[in-house]
Amino acid sequence: MRKVGFIFDLDGVIVDTAKYHYLAWRKLANELGFDFTHDQNELFKGVSRKRCLEILLNIGDVTATHEQFDRWMIDKNVDYLEYIENMDASEILPDVPRVLKYLKERDMPIALGSASKNARPILEKVGLLHYFDAIVDGNNVTKAKPDPEVFLIAAKNLGVNPLDGVVFEDAVAGIQAANAAGMISVGIGDNQILFEAAHNFNDFTEMDSGFLDGLRALT
Ligand code: BG6
Ligand code: MG
Repeated sequence: MRKVGFIFDLDGVIVDTAKYHYLAWRKLANELGFDFTHDQNELFKGVSRKRCLEILLNIGDVTATHEQFDRWMIDKNVDYLEYIENMDASEILPDVPRVLKYLKERDMPIALGSASKNARPILEKVGLLHYFDAIVDGNNVTKAKPDPEVFLIAAKNLGVNPLDGVVFEDAVAGIQAANAAGMISVGIGDNQILFEAAHNFNDFTEMDSGFLDGLRALT
């Protein structure tokens, strides 16, 4: 029997880690002598660490040697890891456990599809790891969102047809990746920003079981 596979992004969908990424990038920017604003941080959502640093250096008009570039990537991640060290279940975004539980109880395949290389320890810290049948993260992909690779691998690992995939995403690049994979994109966040999504909710509290049942019945 064909099944729908549910694929969740991590940062900004399951947990509000965007603020910690922001603090770590801003610290680096300040050390390099320029500021980095909240608005500029929007550009970093769903974007790989390497690409984020390229954008940041561009904002600050800073040129880097290969050695500096690699060092700053490490520095940023060390700071980020410090910020998330004490994360716990209180940082899970509203109603995420309800939705995961609802799908799990109905035996629906669930995957993570994230650009982050820190995804697994974060899921462990917040106690949600056991919900996931497959985890595809920044360690498993060669092409960053908006390339569909991360979601195509997730569908493959779940054993579902890519066209039967549903993706929950908070980033423009992530919605574009889901659409490029031929999946149903569900935007979590501002619909002015995520206007390319097939469906949109401000957060999971707005998503009722009727909507989830509609998705489950797709195949
Ligand atoms: C994405 C975030 O999920 O992961 C990006 O939205 C981040 O902001 C990217 O840059 C990479 O994360 P990490 O944890 O590997 O630096
Ligand atoms: Mg995200």
